[in-house]
Amino acid sequence: MSRRSVIVGTGSALPPNRVTNAQLAERVDTTHEWIVERTGIEARHIAGDGETTATLATEAARKALDAAGVPADQVGLIVLATATPDQTFPASATKVQTALGIDDCIAFDVAAVCTGFLYALSVADNMVKGGMADYALVIGSETFSRILDWEDRATCVLFGDGAGAILLKAEEAQDRGILVTKLHADGRHNDLLYVDGGVSTTGTVGKLRMKGKEVFRHAVTNLADVLNEVLVASGHQAGEVDWVVPHQANKRILDATAKKLGLDPKRVVVTVDQHANTSAASVPLALDVAVRDGRIKRNDLIVLEAMGGGFTWGAAVVRF
Ligand code: UT7
Repeated sequence: MSRRSVIVGTGSALPPNRVTNAQLAERVDTTHEWIVERTGIEARHIAGDGETTATLATEAARKALDAAGVPADQVGLIVLATATPDQTFPASATKVQTALGIDDCIAFDVAAVCTGFLYALSVADNMVKGGMADYALVIGSETFSRILDWEDRATCVLFGDGAGAILLKAEEAQDRGILVTKLHADGRHNDLLYVDGGVSTTGTVGKLRMKGKEVFRHAVTNLADVLNEVLVASGHQAGEVDWVVPHQANKRILDATAKKLGLDPKRVVVTVDQHANTSAASVPLALDVAVRDGRIKRNDLIVLEAMGGGFTWGAAVVRF
């Protein structure tokens, strides 16, 4: 037995404004058919006035705490993964902390774009295992609609807003909780997926730019490699995995990755059709959907994976 981080609650939040492909096609030169055929996306949620990364994160975190039946004042650590913080500083995690009524805990943001949740999970897991907190909220929350170039049809149709959260609890366990996490980055590919502005360069927020085809090619290779790596490290075979909860960028990436590893496509949680790509929020959002609809159950072996700008990529094996 050793001290492990166990997921004891999940939650998520979506802005009420749901925008279909048909609605998008009224303002952008695109079609429902093109978007579905190339990405599998049918709709996305877009944040409205007053809805921010921190407000969505707070709603998701509250639901995760409620699901676990744990009062907010037990939380000793909040790690919030986002590339779209409310402000350059303070960290949006501290806004969530205040909104939850927590007077004192460790709270900070992690920036690894679409892989942000895997990075945040790994950091929080190691801090919990190291004894720095007994309960930790790990959140992915994004408002990518605010960094999209709504004139660029090649990118603006792909993303949506939302948040997902999990509550980790320190437990003495053998084969339960976060079993393995593996993280990678390769900054040589900065120019394939980036935002063309920032505090220290242009002094403006900037807009998202992507060379989609090249990102796609790297995504399938990197995700297959890191999935293989976490499975080997955990001592489990692909056939033992109950559920894969992938980053939701493109249905074709999910299919190609599953095929490459011989994973049963019926065991892959897919939410990209309804949420589009919500960056760091997509893995915990998909996880919460599959927990709440009863697919993912206690003791299931699940694999989380993501890849995004940087490039960054990573995966985790979890006994739920
Ligand atoms: O979360 C981070 C990771 N991100 C990703 O994993 C994204 C990876 N990339 C992708 O998912 C895909 O590459 C895209 C969905 C972005 C694009 O699919 P594609 O099959 O690679 O299409 P493409 O970019 O090669 O574009 C094909 C055609 C082009 O027209 P021509 O040059 O063939 O005449 C585009 O101009 O489709 C056109 N096109 C569109 N047409 C209608 C591009 N965007 C649109 C659009 N509607 N929204």
